Amino acid sequence: MKIDIVFTADEVTKEQTQGKICIIIDVLRATSVMITALKNGANKIYPFKDIETIQERCENLQNIIKCGERNTLKISGFDLGNSPLEFTSEVVSGKDIYMSTTNGTKAIENSKNADKILICSFLNIHAVAEKIISYNKDIVIVCAGTNGHFSLDDALCAGLIIKDLMTSTKISINDTALALVRISESHKNFEDILKGCYHYSLLLNLGFKEDMKHIFSVNKYSIVPEYKNGYISIEK
Ligand code: MLT
Repeated sequence: MKIDIVFTADEVTKEQTQGKICIIIDVLRATSVMITALKNGANKIYPFKDIETIQERCENLQNIIKCGERNTLKISGFDLGNSPLEFTSEVVSGKDIYMSTTNGTKAIENSKNADKILICSFLNIHAVAEKIISYNKDIVIVCAGTNGHFSLDDALCAGLIIKDLMTSTKISINDTALALVRISESHKNFEDILKGCYHYSLLLNLGFKEDMKHIFSVNKYSIVPEYKNGYISIEK
């Protein structure tokens, strides 16, 4: 099993993803939101790059939730923003969700040529690693990054998945993957590792400290959401 890593949503190419299992990571916060919403009973999540596509698709739909962010804040006229704590079972259970975020939903759309697309964050690392082992195929980890730039939170999550895989299977890793594993081992807590990082600091400054407690709960859930046929649902 070979692992490649892409560090931004913008860099993903057809050649990188074709025939592979693709793991999408946008720890802060899109994939953390998706996993939380599905765990709390949401039916399907339809991810889109563009706000306009969501407006068109939802024009005549009832009983759905429109959510997402631009510049980390809720999109005007949408029901929810991009904070996982908003996606409680009371709010999302049984609902279809239409979502657009700056980097996370773009990473999914840009990876559409993969054989399989799985959604990952700190919340479900081990479940995703176990699933990958059962497929026994080459993998590409797509870190969404932030506005076209490397984001350490996503890279840290990628390092933890690789580390998890290394403990239970034989994988061939390059120096990039090894560097991510070393980063994931370098500090005792995420706050220390991410201190001063652009996106993490921005979210803290905007008052999203409570989100972090939830987002940093490693392996809180054992679900593996999959993007297939245009929507994300829990992989069976
Ligand atoms: C994104 O997809 O760009 C992020 O989830 C932004 C955010 O922190 O809300």
